[in-house]
Amino acid sequence: MRLPGPGLARITLRRGDITADASADAIVNAANSSLLGGGGVDGAIHSAAGPELLEECRRLGGCETGDAKITGAGRLPVRHVIHTVGPVWRGGGHGEAELLASCYRRSVELADAAGCEVVAFPAVSCGVYGYPVDAAARVALVALAEALDRHDGVREARFWLFSDRVLTDFEAALTALRPEG
Ligand code: APR
Repeated sequence: MRLPGPGLARITLRRGDITADASADAIVNAANSSLLGGGGVDGAIHSAAGPELLEECRRLGGCETGDAKITGAGRLPVRHVIHTVGPVWRGGGHGEAELLASCYRRSVELADAAGCEVVAFPAVSCGVYGYPVDAAARVALVALAEALDRHDGVREARFWLFSDRVLTDFEAALTALRPEG
C-alpha cells in the first residue's frame, strides 16, 4: 500500500447526513451511471436539492463508472454537486479498487477546477453497491490524499459517514495511514 502524502492531513471524518452540510462548497453524490437519481445518498441529495437538480442531470447524458460530473446544487446550501459513479462490488477481481480510487480523483479534479475549497464526500459504493467498508475506506483515503496533494485549491475533504460502523471503519483506516499511527 502506497503511503499517502501530506494531503491526508486535509481529510476529516464526520458522522451525519451530507445534505445538512451548509459550509462545504460542493458535496459529492454517490450516483448511478444514469445520473437520474436513486436511493441512498443519491435519493437524499435529489430530495434536498429539488427537481432542478434532476433537470440539470438529465442534460448530462449519464456518467461512466469511475468518472464524475459537476452540476449546480438546486436548493442545497452549497454551490455544486459532483456526481460520481462508484463500482459495484463483484468480489474485488474486476478493477473495483481502481474504479473507486478514480471516483475520488475525478471528484477532486472537478472541485478544484470549479474553485471549491471544501468538498464533502459520502462513502462511495459502501451501500447499495456493496463494497466492503474497511477496504473501501483504505482505497478512498489513499486516493483522496494523493488527489489533494495534486490540488492545493481543495483545502479540505470531509467525509460524512452515515452510520457508526462506517465511521469506525474509516477512523481505523485513517489511523493506520497516519505516520504517527
Ligand atoms: N448522507 C451521507 N451518507 C449517506 C446518506 C446521507 N444522507 N444516505 C446514505 N448514506 C451512505 C450509506 O449509508 C453508505 O454508507 O452513503 C454510503 C453510500 O451508499 P449508497 O447511497 O447506497 O451509494 P452506493 O453504495 O454508491 O450505491 C449507489 O445506490 O442510491 C443508489 O442511485 C444510487 O444506484 C446508485 C447506488
